[in-house]
Amino acid sequence: MPCWCGSGKKYKQCHEDFDKKIRHYEIMGHPVPTHDMLKNREQVELIKKSAVINRACLDAVSEAIRPGMNTQEIDDIVYQTTTSMGGIPAPLNYENFPKSVCTSVNSQVCHGIPSKKVILKEGDIINVDCSTILDGYFSDSSRMFMIGEVSEEKQRLVRVTKECVQKGLEATRPWGFLGDMAEAVHKHAEANGYSVVREIGGHGVGLEFHEEPWVSYVSNAGEDMLIVPGMMFTIEPMVNMGRPGIYTDKKNNWEVYTKDGKPSAQWEIQLYVTEDGPEVICW
Ligand code: MF3
Ligand code: CO
Repeated sequence: MPCWCGSGKKYKQCHEDFDKKIRHYEIMGHPVPTHDMLKNREQVELIKKSAVINRACLDAVSEAIRPGMNTQEIDDIVYQTTTSMGGIPAPLNYENFPKSVCTSVNSQVCHGIPSKKVILKEGDIINVDCSTILDGYFSDSSRMFMIGEVSEEKQRLVRVTKECVQKGLEATRPWGFLGDMAEAVHKHAEANGYSVVREIGGHGVGLEFHEEPWVSYVSNAGEDMLIVPGMMFTIEPMVNMGRPGIYTDKKNNWEVYTKDGKPSAQWEIQLYVTEDGPEVICW
């Protein structure tokens, strides 16, 4: 019997022991990944090509972003960069999302819609969340940008949120659990007086924009899905300066805001899990 992974090797000599190990965790009651969530090296190489474009977009935004700029101009940069490199912006027309990138300013938590009417001003913080399709392979990452002089307290939110992602990455290991990563993320946020959004999380990614598993950043060590080599997912916590509560703008069903009106920050990386640990594919 040939292995399901497509290696051409016999199952016995390929993933049989691997599957037995997963089965062991499943019997103990843990959610475990299915084979269709796992990527092989060839797929990862193609996903990395998509990620080159995604990173180029965020690098280009980083060069251009300044006070007085409107967020439609950010959308233009992302659309131009992506298409000139042969890619497709994944957000465009995704479930009726009207633009090529998400731009979320201050108390916007995520999914902000670029607009000529949203003009960046000194002191703003903004998340630019970029996702690319290249030859059917998906990449996804986001960064925060600070516009001109930003208050100490907003600078700290942006820095701590980035540290949360770093801590989550350090807690990610094969044959650990997504909850190990989540705990590292939210403990750092909470130790700094912040809260982590509960309702919106990360996701598997690579062959689709959003794949299983759904990824929480508020669960605890030992909880949620077993992490196995071959998995690819995002670490993208939304960290609120105040309370965790959020709401979605009913006018467009996309834009998400903090209920208390306080700022929120997010950084997103895409990673691939190998036997040796996580490899960051996109940032
Ligand atoms: N890029 C977002 C993520 O990190 C998803 C945005 S969906 C969109 O998962 F349609 F708004 F682009
Ligand atoms: Co994502």
